[in-house]
Amino acid sequence: MGRLDHVSADAGISGSVTPLRVVSPTRQIDEREFVVEIADATRTFGPVKAIDGLDVSIEKGRISVLLGPNGAGKTTAIRMITGALSPDTGTARVFGLDPAGDDGHEVRRRCGVVSAKPSLYDRLSGWDNLRYAAELYELGRGAGADNRIREAAAMFGIEGSLDHQVGGYSTGMKTRLALARSVLHDPDLLLLDEPTSGLDPESAFAVLELIRKLTRDGQTVLMCTHLLLEAEGLADEIVIMQKGTTLLAGTPGELASQYWPTPQVKVTSPSAEGFDLLATLDGVHAVSIDGETATADLDTLDRIPDLVASLVAGGVPVQAIVPFSPTLEDLYFAVRRDRGDDHGSDDIRPPEALSGRPARALPEAA
Ligand SMILES: Nc1ncnc2c1ncn2[C@@H]1O[C@H](COP(=O)(O)OP(=O)(O)OP(=O)(O)O)[C@@H](O)[C@H]1O
Ligand SMILES: [Mg+2]
Repeated sequence: MGRLDHVSADAGISGSVTPLRVVSPTRQIDEREFVVEIADATRTFGPVKAIDGLDVSIEKGRISVLLGPNGAGKTTAIRMITGALSPDTGTARVFGLDPAGDDGHEVRRRCGVVSAKPSLYDRLSGWDNLRYAAELYELGRGAGADNRIREAAAMFGIEGSLDHQVGGYSTGMKTRLALARSVLHDPDLLLLDEPTSGLDPESAFAVLELIRKLTRDGQTVLMCTHLLLEAEGLADEIVIMQKGTTLLAGTPGELASQYWPTPQVKVTSPSAEGFDLLATLDGVHAVSIDGETATADLDTLDRIPDLVASLVAGGVPVQAIVPFSPTLEDLYFAVRRDRGDDHGSDDIRPPEALSGRPARALPEAA
């Protein structure tokens, strides 16, 4: 499993959480090309503010992942990108065009979409579903289009089921068919709303591999998921949403370094005196203790060998010394704790006390 890039040792020392940018820092770099730019958008449904001052910039050729609790507005944001919805205020531009305006057709021609509940024609075969989509995408009816259908079906492992009626497909097969349909026309931007839900682990893994491959080929992917493990190692950019707004955005490494500005090491020992000694050692700036594990803020992880030697020389029974590498899960819960959403419908919280410092179990031990 991948880990967030680790923090730089000279990033300043602080026990508290650094204020976060709301708009993606990539926005400031002019050479980068943004496929999607949503700026200060709002959208209400009756009394519900589904989108409330949303800023999202999606860079070309990258995999961006929208994270957030149920009802955060992720699907609504995707619908704004496809032009299915227009913002009440603010702007949504895709390929520099207005997806809800006259250019909507052009935007949708260049997008592949897998919605959370893909609509498929149950009474038609898989082949006919793809055939129909190919016609909508104006791929024609010739051998070229048929080959493209076979190729897309094979990418998602459903080539053997194309003659069967979709009504008889399993949930996972339907998702795979929707994925095949989304890439038929070789879209520039792929919008995937929880694309692995209902897939078995092998298929989910294959889908994530394909997503990686697509971006290597120059396509841009925006994906919503609730599966933090799935986003780990896949996401080039993370956008964390809550209540229709962007809590923070950036690369996993950038975001981690805002929450964990100094390198940390976890020391496990049954000896409380050992932690007293730990706090006095060179390069140790702060120590917080949680049972038999102490978290030490260091100036640099290069201190670890000296730390081990000093503790052992001091007679401290050390059971483990592990550098802390924050995972996306650590980051997500740190952000959610910090921003304290009391109203989220699935306000998942880890059991530990709330603090800026990760009090969760070591990722390695999880
Ligand atoms: N067409 C609609 N009519 C009324 N309310 C809507 C509509 N679409 C979205 N909402 C509301 O907007 C809010 C955001 O919904 P959205 O589906 O975008 O959230 P989400 O982040 O995708 O959630 P989930 O993780 O559950 O998929 C919710 O409160 C939802 O009930
Ligand atoms: Mg959704």
